[in-house]
Amino acid sequence: MYKGFNFLYLSVVLLLAFNISFTFSQNTISVNYNVQRNYNSFEECGLNGEPVCTSLEDAGNRAILLSKTSNPTNIINIIGNIDGSTPVTFGNLYNYCGKLFIRSSISNVNININGSNSTQQPFLTIQEADQPNSTFPCSIPRIFQFQYINFTNWDQTLVNININQETDLNSVNPSKSLTVYFQLVNIISSSSILKIYPKNFGENYNLQAIKVSFISTIGIDLKSSSVLFSPSSTQYYLPPIYLAGASVTRILSLSDSTFESTPFIFSDNGGVSSGSFVVSNNNFSSNPFIMAVNGGTVALPTLSFTNNILSTFIYFSNFYNQPLIQATFSNNIFGNSFVQNNKFMEYENENSIFVIKDSDFSTIDLLGYSILNQNTIANDLIYIVNSSLNLDNSVIRSPMLVPQHIINSINSSVSIINFNLTISELPIVGFNSNIHLFSSVFTNDVYCGCQGCSFYIQLDLVDPLEYLSQCNL
Ligand SMILES: *[C@@H]1O[C@H](CO)[C@@H](O)[C@H](O)[C@H]1NC(C)=O
Ligand SMILES: *[C@@H]1O[C@H](CO)[C@@H](O)[C@H](O)[C@H]1NC(C)=O
Ligand SMILES: *[C@@H]1O[C@H](CO)[C@@H](O)[C@H](O)[C@H]1NC(C)=O
Ligand SMILES: *[C@@H]1O[C@H](CO)[C@@H](O)[C@H](O)[C@H]1NC(C)=O
Ligand SMILES: *[C@@H]1O[C@H](CO)[C@@H](O)[C@H](O)[C@H]1NC(C)=O
Ligand SMILES: *[C@@H]1O[C@H](CO)[C@@H](O)[C@H](O)[C@H]1NC(C)=O
Ligand SMILES: *[C@@H]1O[C@H](CO)[C@@H](O)[C@H](O)[C@H]1NC(C)=O
Ligand SMILES: *[C@@H]1O[C@H](CO)[C@@H](O)[C@H](O)[C@H]1NC(C)=O
Repeated sequence: MYKGFNFLYLSVVLLLAFNISFTFSQNTISVNYNVQRNYNSFEECGLNGEPVCTSLEDAGNRAILLSKTSNPTNIINIIGNIDGSTPVTFGNLYNYCGKLFIRSSISNVNININGSNSTQQPFLTIQEADQPNSTFPCSIPRIFQFQYINFTNWDQTLVNININQETDLNSVNPSKSLTVYFQLVNIISSSSILKIYPKNFGENYNLQAIKVSFISTIGIDLKSSSVLFSPSSTQYYLPPIYLAGASVTRILSLSDSTFESTPFIFSDNGGVSSGSFVVSNNNFSSNPFIMAVNGGTVALPTLSFTNNILSTFIYFSNFYNQPLIQATFSNNIFGNSFVQNNKFMEYENENSIFVIKDSDFSTIDLLGYSILNQNTIANDLIYIVNSSLNLDNSVIRSPMLVPQHIINSINSSVSIINFNLTISELPIVGFNSNIHLFSSVFTNDVYCGCQGCSFYIQLDLVDPLEYLSQCNL
């Protein structure tokens, strides 16, 4: 009671303080692409009493200047749509320090920014110069917030971040702190939303330093890029979200999209987590929905995953933090159109809903309280190699077709707890693994598919030779 009151009081004080700063200490810079330029330099446009800026580049340069000389919070108001006849870009806003809103001039009314002619440069770039001393370091964090914008027909990247990322795992230097919000944004018929790749690649990064959050934001009709390549590749195209050493703290919702040559999200030592989001009517048949490699974190607590076509939901390689997956899978079609021998970078795809390679998932349950409801499953539930896994609870409820196999286990150690394995005729296949079965429902067919595997019931080693003669393979 006492604490609650105190908190309320504090909130009111903070709110007042925020409102006061909101009222008095920010500049609004107006931009309109639909009028003639009527000024000489960006230093003369955008503010009250001045001609409106006629490009985002001018507005961004004005904002950089204002952030250095006057206020750390600025707003860029975009008046009217920006059609596809001109290239649209902020260029590099690395030198902006503080918070910058980039939004429609009318709250709740989205403007459209058409990227048809923006083929050369990302919409927003945060690029540190090769010589760090040639730029002015920020003493406060950078925050960019997009609001009420539709991005359509973008084949260039919307936000491209390439800086020396924070390697201090315990604290974040403000000059390396960067947050991007997409709020009430629609991203339509586009291919590259986010690319974060460290200039100091190969280190261990503090994943809290660079964060991107999609709030009430949806992607519609997205696709894999067919013009941009992944960093350090000349063969593999850039996924819509490419993340190295940074975090997406809320994923955007996604519908009516087809990804032919990339995962939707590729995370290399990144943090991926969802607010509540909805993924429906998409085709991920050639690559996983999410590929998470080389450490990092994955937390998907409230995902609704409906009416999608795919082989692999999530692919882990060299991943050691236990993921949290609590999703509702309904009416998806798994594994019908898997392309054999398909890779994304060095990662070979497998025809399985979950793929786990060179990883340790032994401490908590992989699927949490996920629900599989009315899905058509033509592939395996889990492919695991060189890894350990703990699978608890029966998560499969009323699948339309059952998985071919529950687990394909190679060189791994797997514990299965409280699981009804009879839903599949040959639940366990693979090679050279230790399989522990606790409190599970199974028949002798459980021993029939895994060569050179050791089976333990509760804690007792079973001699499979007793059963193999009954296998009709
Ligand atoms: C975007 O601009 C291009 C080129 O001007 C045009 O063909 C296309 O219809 C526009 N798209 C939208 C959604 O406005
Ligand atoms: C793109 O911009 C260039 C130069 O501004 C112009 O010549 C060209 O016609 C534009 N293309 C489209 C499709 O509008
Ligand atoms: C923005 O996108 C939404 C969702 O597709 C659409 O309903 C709305 O008409 C679009 N607005 C503009 C200005 O293009
Ligand atoms: C920046 O630092 C590099 C070496 O780190 C040095 O060679 C260069 O002269 C410096 N440039 C400036 C403008 O100080
Ligand atoms: C899904 O996408 C693949 C290409 O990646 C294509 O071959 C297939 O026809 C698509 N499926 C449907 C139902 O659209
Ligand atoms: C598993 O480990 C072995 C050696 O320990 C290695 O040869 C093999 O490539 C690994 N497999 C995968 C899929 O990582
Ligand atoms: C399994 O382990 C053996 C022996 O270490 C290795 O030769 C083989 O490549 C591994 N299999 C896979 C699929 O990684
Ligand atoms: C296990 O699943 C099978 C097939 O769906 C079902 O018939 C059986 O009742 C289940 N057993 C238990 C104990 O839940």
